[in-house]
Amino acid sequence: MAKLTLLVNGTERKVEVEAGEPLLSVLRNRLELTGSKYGCGEGECGACTVLIDGRSIRSCLMPAEAATGQKITTIEGLAPTGTLSPLQQAFLEEEAFQCGYCTSGMIMSAHALLAGNPHPSEDDILKRMNGNICRCGTYPRILAAIRRAAGGKKS
Ligand code: FES
Ligand code: FES
Repeated sequence: MAKLTLLVNGTERKVEVEAGEPLLSVLRNRLELTGSKYGCGEGECGACTVLIDGRSIRSCLMPAEAATGQKITTIEGLAPTGTLSPLQQAFLEEEAFQCGYCTSGMIMSAHALLAGNPHPSEDDILKRMNGNICRCGTYPRILAAIRRAAGGKKS
């Protein structure tokens, strides 16, 4: 076991981890931040997406020790006081989920997109969100939610 200090959602968290333990496992099982989901475990579905210094990454693939010294943001960090972020609110208003399993990963990927490109074209959104899979097929509503959050037209 190794002792790490991780900066998660603006707070330093001290945690013991196994060698090579994925960040997702540490977040979910050791820090009780269960908003990030385990889907494929192979970097293919996006359910585990979190931000590292503002960039979206697949936390199932990243060893937790590689995240030390960087700002980790999970879905819980987007609403620290309980008030939803504009993007989360847009997902709610567009009902952009069915089972919800993909939703936190979708929101984290979209959050990184909008942070770097506040007014993305439809093409920009599709390219960026391409690696996030929704088994329920709510893609049109997810697209509408991202457009709504970006100040585009409402559905
Ligand atoms: S669980 Fe990480 S990409 Fe699927
Ligand atoms: S809402 Fe069920 S997987 Fe996307």
